Amino acid sequence: MRLKHSTGNTKRLAEAMAKELGVEALPLTSPITEPVDILFLGNSYYAFTIDPEVRTFIASLSKDKVGKPDNEDLRAAAEFAASYK
Ligand SMILES: Cc1cc2nc3c(=O)[nH]c(=O)nc-3n(C[C@H](O)[C@H](O)[C@H](O)COP(=O)(O)O)c2cc1C
Repeated sequence: MRLKHSTGNTKRLAEAMAKELGVEALPLTSPITEPVDILFLGNSYYAFTIDPEVRTFIASLSKDKVGKPDNEDLRAAAEFAASYK
């Protein structure tokens, strides 16, 4: 993510999460080339809005890449949330 004001907070958070998950944190400029189970999308707010680059990225996700959650997705989301109890 390239922002005029960026302080690197989002990048540091993404890298910390990626390290724990054993995956690589990639910038928005890296295209998604294969199906993913979960996409963590980091974003910061500046002057009450998100970066236009993030908006463009979200808009670029085609319908076949953005599915509706099935029962397994809901179970995994609940398990993830429960880990913070
Ligand atoms: C000039 C400026 C404007 C900001 N505006 C907002 C805002 O409108 N809403 C908000 O929640 N945070 C705002 N923030 C806080 C940033 O979103 C926050 O510091 C974020 O962690 C920056 O992440 P980044 O370094 O990855 O860009 C602002 C920060 C700065 C420096």
